[in-house]
Amino acid sequence: EKGTYPHFMLKEIDEQPFVMRNIIQEYQDENDEIKLDKKVRQAMVEADRIYIIAAGTSYHAGLVGKEFIEKLANVPVEVHIASEFSYNMPLLSEKPLFVFISQSGETADSRAVLVRIKELGHPALTITNVPGSTLSREANHTLHLHAGPEIAVASTKAYTAQIAVLAILAVDTAKAKNVAFDFDPLQELAIVASAMEALTDQKEVFEQLAKEYFSTTRNAFFIGRSTDYHVCMEAALKLKEISYIQAEGFAGGELKHGTIALIEDGTPVIALATQENVNYSIRGNVQEVAARGANTGVISIKGLEQEGDAFVLPQVHDLLTPLVSVVPMQLLAYYAALHRDCDVDKPRNLAKSVTVE
Ligand code: F6R
Repeated sequence: EKGTYPHFMLKEIDEQPFVMRNIIQEYQDENDEIKLDKKVRQAMVEADRIYIIAAGTSYHAGLVGKEFIEKLANVPVEVHIASEFSYNMPLLSEKPLFVFISQSGETADSRAVLVRIKELGHPALTITNVPGSTLSREANHTLHLHAGPEIAVASTKAYTAQIAVLAILAVDTAKAKNVAFDFDPLQELAIVASAMEALTDQKEVFEQLAKEYFSTTRNAFFIGRSTDYHVCMEAALKLKEISYIQAEGFAGGELKHGTIALIEDGTPVIALATQENVNYSIRGNVQEVAARGANTGVISIKGLEQEGDAFVLPQVHDLLTPLVSVVPMQLLAYYAALHRDCDVDKPRNLAKSVTVE
């Protein structure tokens, strides 16, 4: 039930702090350590390479998850779009582990890959919001997202839950492999939950920004580098699926290789700047597009902010910035759709779970 909310999407955006706290509780033991199925741990430790398979928003979460697993647990990771996997199947390592990320657990494109890799005898782990789902039943192992039912077609809380669970999984693997690092995901996720709350408490700011940038435009760009780029891809998907604005997420460095030709007077370009190592370069990109007439807005993070930024996010651990930077993007998409009179919860041509290939 959506209660007092006008749309499920808004309710689900608001639920994200609770989902984070729920995940902390579900994945914490009585000594405040990570609690995780021992068989999942073993499968992760035994793998010499992880192949993440997913579609849409779940694919975008996989791109962020790759960073965690590689940086923290020191295992190479490939992320594949499920529907593309079989056309050009990568050379597999000796001990691959397949990780399926799927909110619904019913995505046919992902299931087709699972069937194929099972025939080849490889192990699979499904990370899903629906433990009894097809992908969960057919894989060797399951991790639950604990996000509660997601009703709106546009995925929001499942994306942040996927990233949170992937962070926990990466750290658990790192610990089991005795890799040294200094990052307690459970503690950091609690900080993320409060930061998310601070964002959902300021909806009117994003409503105003959505009006400013997206009320009449035909297209929009989200630019970022590194982790921010992956969040920009998700930001663009959210905007296009519910507001029907043609939107793209671009790597800042790629602009000059073609895309900058699309910039006209008033083209909205939202930049994410949450990573210190790319802050200088992404701000350079913002100047480049502004000089060509773009209507620019920078969403930065405390510590990296500059005068004139459209919004400054509260600070969280560097690795977990996607969990907070995506929230304004979800709200911008929501209000853009609302301003444009679109059916927010049930956008045209889309279904909540895509059970055909
Ligand atoms: C976007 C969206 C879709 C799904 C995709 C995968 O908001 O909802 O892109 O993310 O269809 O679905 P699941 O995660 O259920 O496999």
